[in-house]
Amino acid sequence: MKILVTGANRGIGLEMVKIAVSKRWHVFACCRNPHESTKLNEVASMSGGLVSVKILDVTDRAQIQALAYEMRNDCIDILINNAGVYGDSNGSLGEFDDEDWLNTFKINTIAPLRVAEAFVEHVACSQKKLIATMSSKMGSMEDNTSGGSYVYRSSKAATNAVVKSMSLDFESKGITCVALHPGWVKTDMGGPHAEITTRQCVMQLFDILENCSAKDNGKFIDVDGNVVPW
Ligand SMILES: NC(=O)c1ccc[n+]([C@@H]2O[C@H](COP(=O)([O-])OP(=O)(O)OC[C@H]3O[C@@H](n4cnc5c(N)ncnc54)[C@H](OP(=O)(O)O)[C@@H]3O)[C@@H](O)[C@H]2O)c1
Repeated sequence: MKILVTGANRGIGLEMVKIAVSKRWHVFACCRNPHESTKLNEVASMSGGLVSVKILDVTDRAQIQALAYEMRNDCIDILINNAGVYGDSNGSLGEFDDEDWLNTFKINTIAPLRVAEAFVEHVACSQKKLIATMSSKMGSMEDNTSGGSYVYRSSKAATNAVVKSMSLDFESKGITCVALHPGWVKTDMGGPHAEITTRQCVMQLFDILENCSAKDNGKFIDVDGNVVPW
C-alpha cells in the first residue's frame, strides 16, 4: 500500500506516518518545512526507506504541481488530505478577521481539491483508489448545537461540499472519495483535554480506510465508522 499524507509533521498526520510504517506501507509524508520536522525525519530515518519526506505547503499551487510531476510514476492507494487549521479568530461574534477566514478556507477547503486534482491520476492507477479528506463534525449543520466557531465551521462545511462533488466527478475513474471526522483528538489543535489519543484515532481511521470501497463514495464518516449527517 502506498499513501500520501499532507500535514505529516505533527498531530494526526505524524501519527498516520508512524502507524503506516508499522503496517509496512510506503508513505509520502508531506510537510511545509522538512528541515524543521525533527520528529518526522526521525520516523523516516528509522523506516527502512518506507517514508519519503516531501515539501508541500498545500496552499502553494506550484509546489503541488512540482510534487505531482516528481511523483508522476508513483501510484497512490490512499491520498489523505489531512493538513488543516482551526483559524485564529473563532471567538465571539464580532471578533473574526476576514484575512484569517480566507486563509483558513485556502488551507481547509481549497487545498484538498487542488491536491486531489493534481494527484487524481496517481490515485487512479493504484489498487485502492481512495481520497480521504479530513473534515470535522464542526462542519456538520445537524451537529451544530452550540453556535460560534464561524471560521472553522464554515471552512469544514465547505470541505464537505468539495468532497461530495469530487465523489461524483472522480467516480468514472473508479476513485472513492470520503470526508472523515477524526474524533476530538489530543493534538495542538484538539488540545490536552481532547477525548482520544492520536494513536487511537489513526488506528481506527486506518481500519475504516482499509475497508472503504465504492459503496462508501461520497460519505462523511466518523472515527467510529458511523455516517455523520451533513
Ligand atoms: N484534533 C482534533 O480534535 C480534530 C478534530 C476534527 C478535525 N480535525 C482535523 O484533522 C486534521 C489534522 O488536525 P490535527 O489535530 O493533527 O492538527 P495540528 O496538530 O494542528 O496539525 C495540523 C497540521 O496541518 C499542517 N498544516 C497547516 N497548514 C498547512 C499548509 N498550508 N500546508 C501544509 N500543511 C499545513 C500543520 O503543519 P505545520 O506544523 O507546518 O503548521 C500540521 O502538520 C485537520 O484537518 C483538522 O481540521 C482535528
